[in-house]
Amino acid sequence: MPDATPQSVAALLRWYNDIGVDLALDDEPRDRFAEREVKPAPAALARRAPEPPPRAAPVSAIPRAPAIPPAAISALSSEAVVLSARETAERAQTLDDLRRALDGFEGCALRKTATQLVFADGNPQARIMLVGEAPGAEEDRAGKPFVGRSGQLLDRMLVAIGLDRTSAYITNVVPWRPPGNRTPTPLETAACLPFTRRHIELSGCDILVCLGNPSTQILLGARDGIMRTRGRWLQYDAGARALRAMPMLHPAFLLRQPGHKRLAWRDMRELSRALSST
Ligand code: URA
Repeated sequence: MPDATPQSVAALLRWYNDIGVDLALDDEPRDRFAEREVKPAPAALARRAPEPPPRAAPVSAIPRAPAIPPAAISALSSEAVVLSARETAERAQTLDDLRRALDGFEGCALRKTATQLVFADGNPQARIMLVGEAPGAEEDRAGKPFVGRSGQLLDRMLVAIGLDRTSAYITNVVPWRPPGNRTPTPLETAACLPFTRRHIELSGCDILVCLGNPSTQILLGARDGIMRTRGRWLQYDAGARALRAMPMLHPAFLLRQPGHKRLAWRDMRELSRALSST
């Protein structure tokens, strides 16, 4: 921008932000439209005499490439990623080990676009652990889960039953912000899952709360949508112990659909009952 002024740069950044562009993936801009345009070489435009049909080579002379379709190749490498995630996560004996292991884990592409790892917040020895989907822009900047608008609502919901971040532990199924808050891909989620499972095992919780559909389906294997599963007690197998687990509506959903807050309130009261009855 040769004629740029501070005002024009600020206006451009504001415009990017308004249309949801809040992240640079590369130092230099790339024209993806130009990359897609396949321009025929000038020689290809000239009229050519038809070529004679190729003479068939004898079958035995054709070198055979191994018949592995591209999808199978990527399935092989996804399996390797998930296997390495599982081995790395299982080696962690403490939450500090796990945080370090995750910080050094290269198998999830989201780490490249995120500012930092968003591991957890709150008290890891608390009886209740809440697991959301993935950090957003504010969590990515702060390095802590649920600090934006939905986090503030979550804090108010916890306070309503006498809890706060000293008596609850909070994380996400994916610990890096997906660019532009897009949904994590199945491979990104699968690569992070062994770490989330180990995270739950190493925490001191006995009640797991899955916030929203993705967390409920990934951790509890629920097939039904969140409107059917919310508020129901399910069981989560955390290795040496079985935890009680409850799906709840995600606070971001409650911000969009405040009419459903009464359901969330019902579920919070059920949680409170469970905490005081055991
Ligand atoms: N939404 C989530 O699922 N997690 C966060 O940390 C913030 C918003």
